Amino acid sequence: MKVISTESSQILAARLATALNTGMVDVKFSRFPDGELYLAAGELDDETVIVGSVTGSDALVQLLLLIDACEGSENHLVIPYMGYARQDKKFKNGEPISARAIARLFKDNVADCITVNIHEPDVLKYFGVPTKNISVGKDVGAYIQTLHLKNPLILAPDDGAMAFAEGVAAVGGWDCDHLEKTRLSGVEVKMAPKKLSAASRPVVIVDDIISTGGTIATAAYMLYQQGATDVYAACVHGVLIGGAFVHLKAGGIRDVFCCDTVERGCSRISAAKSIAAALKG
Ligand code: R5P
Repeated sequence: MKVISTESSQILAARLATALNTGMVDVKFSRFPDGELYLAAGELDDETVIVGSVTGSDALVQLLLLIDACEGSENHLVIPYMGYARQDKKFKNGEPISARAIARLFKDNVADCITVNIHEPDVLKYFGVPTKNISVGKDVGAYIQTLHLKNPLILAPDDGAMAFAEGVAAVGGWDCDHLEKTRLSGVEVKMAPKKLSAASRPVVIVDDIISTGGTIATAAYMLYQQGATDVYAACVHGVLIGGAFVHLKAGGIRDVFCCDTVERGCSRISAAKSIAAALKG
C-alpha cells in the first residue's frame, strides 16, 4: 500500500503515510499553457490511499485527475475536507444540492471512501461507493488538554454542533453547552450559553468549520461581556476566508487552532492517526 495526495493535502498525506508505516507516491503537478491542470503520478502500488481535500474547484479537479491516474490499483479515497458540503439541500427552487453533485463524482476507480467531520453526514448516501465519516473530536480534545485550562467550558456555537462539542468535552470530562441566540429587539441579538455560565472561566468554542469567523467573533464578544476570562476558537476545518484568522485575533480571541484537513499555519491538530485507524479498521 502507498499513499498519494493532491497538492491540497500533502502534509496530512505524509503524516498518514507515517501513521500507516507505508511509502508515498511522488506526483508532478503543473499546468498546461491554457491553465488546465496537469499531473503525473510516480510508480503506483496494487493498493493506494488517495488523499485530497476539496478546498476549491481546482482542488476538486486535481483530485479527479489523481483518481484517474491511479487506474489499475485498489483505491481507498480519503476526503479530509469536503467543500460544497454545506449546500446539502435545496433552500429555494432552482438551487442544486451541491453536496450531492460532488459526492456523485467519486465512484469510478474508487473502492471506498472516508470523510472527516463532513458538514452533514446525511449526504454520505450520495456517494457512489461505501463511505464512512469519522470525527476528530478526540484529537481536538487531546490538543485542548495540552493547554492546561482551568475548568474550561466547551461551547458549540449552535445546537447542531453540540454532538461534536460533546465528543471534544468527553476527553477532559469538561463542561459542555451550546450557545443560544435571543432576539432582544429588531437590531439587537444576545448570545449566551443555554444552561451554564461562562463567567470567570476560559471558554473554547468548537465548530466543524470556521469560514468567515463571523459566528465565533460575535459569540466571543458576548462571552467576554459575560465574564469569560479567555475565549479560544477551535475547529476541524480552518477554511478561514477573507482574513478570518486576523478578524478573530483582533476580536480578542486568545488562540485559534484547527486540524490539517485544511492545511493552514494554525493546523496544529492532525487527523492522520484517526484516518489511519479508520483505514485499518
Ligand atoms: C455552519 O453551519 C458551520 O457549522 C459553521 O458554523 C459555519 O460554517 C461558520 O461560518 P462562519 O465562520 O462564516 O461564521
